[in-house]
Amino acid sequence: MNARHESILNHSGARWLWIALALIVVSLLAYALHSPAVPPNGGTWLGYTLGTIAGLLILWLMYFGVRKRSYSGTSNLRGWLSAHVYLGTALILLALLHAGFQVGWNLHTFFLVLMLLVIVSGFFGVYCYLRYPTLMTRNRESATRSAMLEEIAELDQTALTLADGIDPKVHDIVLRSIQNTRLGGGVLAQLRAHDDSDAALAGIRAALEAREKSQQAAGGAKSGQTIFAMVDFLASGTNDRQAEALRKLIDLLSRKKTLASRVARDIQYQALMEIWLYFHVPLSFATVAALFAHVIAVFFYW
Ligand code: HEM
Ligand code: HEM
Repeated sequence: MNARHESILNHSGARWLWIALALIVVSLLAYALHSPAVPPNGGTWLGYTLGTIAGLLILWLMYFGVRKRSYSGTSNLRGWLSAHVYLGTALILLALLHAGFQVGWNLHTFFLVLMLLVIVSGFFGVYCYLRYPTLMTRNRESATRSAMLEEIAELDQTALTLADGIDPKVHDIVLRSIQNTRLGGGVLAQLRAHDDSDAALAGIRAALEAREKSQQAAGGAKSGQTIFAMVDFLASGTNDRQAEALRKLIDLLSRKKTLASRVARDIQYQALMEIWLYFHVPLSFATVAALFAHVIAVFFYW
């Protein structure tokens, strides 16, 4: 199958979906057919069997973290992830059948809830994995992030040089917008990534507008000052090259704005793809601890 159309959900013809379904069907059949002397619970032979399978599955699901970091080929990792997703989901039913649907307010149920939280956060992860890469590709329009950042740096430089030739105040506006642009950083900063070209664009546009108005006005020089103190210099200079330069500056800043918001979105998508793991991974460790507590509790205090 073409790798492009293969997602973690249909990897190898959805092989792991079928394996997980088979596991579920066999467990359901066994549950339906067995007739223990007591109501179904974790302590019957089937309860122990399903509990052991579920416990081992959890340990195996944890092993994915190790695997993910030690393996270099991505295609096989996708198979692992596919198995992780389907077998992880099958755990919901396995655990409930294991406990014979006996849930109460106790340590065991707390463990079950922890496990369910890990699984639900996993669903959110799958949603992110399926949704954001496509959005990222579309957003990037085939450029890489570093290429976009490089172009932004070049545009910044050109804009600064150009602004320098116009007026120190315009130079200040451009410089401030460059300094106020925040892209990247920690995960939270990534989610808030923003670019400050809007303010600069507004400033330069105002300058151009004020200049044009002041030129139209009779006697020009005075009226320009009342519109924008910031651009009083423009009122006195009747040099067309400045207007031309301002227009060019607006073009540069607009191009930069487009690029910078594209990069900001790219970074946000990636941060969203990572932030759910901040729930999934710690909760999965808590689940393992609770698994041990559960097993110890049933063996010692049952
Ligand atoms: C995914 C793994 C597991 C989950 C989510 C899970 C969950 C539960 C829950 C919710 C109960 C019901 C407790 C109650 O009666 O209120 C239970 C009972 C029990 N579990 Fe597990 N369990 C798991 C794995 C295991 C393992 C690996 C073992 C032992 C090898 C085990 C042994 C038992 C026993 C003996 C009971 C019966 C306790 C009783 O009826 O009081 N479980 N389990
Ligand atoms: C109790 C069940 C589960 C446990 C203990 C568990 C544990 C883990 C661990 C330890 C990782 C490695 C993360 C890392 O090292 O970065 C992981 C990754 C992942 N898990 Fe789970 N998981 C469980 C269930 C699920 C389920 C049900 C789903 C989806 C339906 C899921 C989706 C994922 C995904 C998409 C990743 C990939 C993270 C990545 O490659 O960046 N997990 N899980």
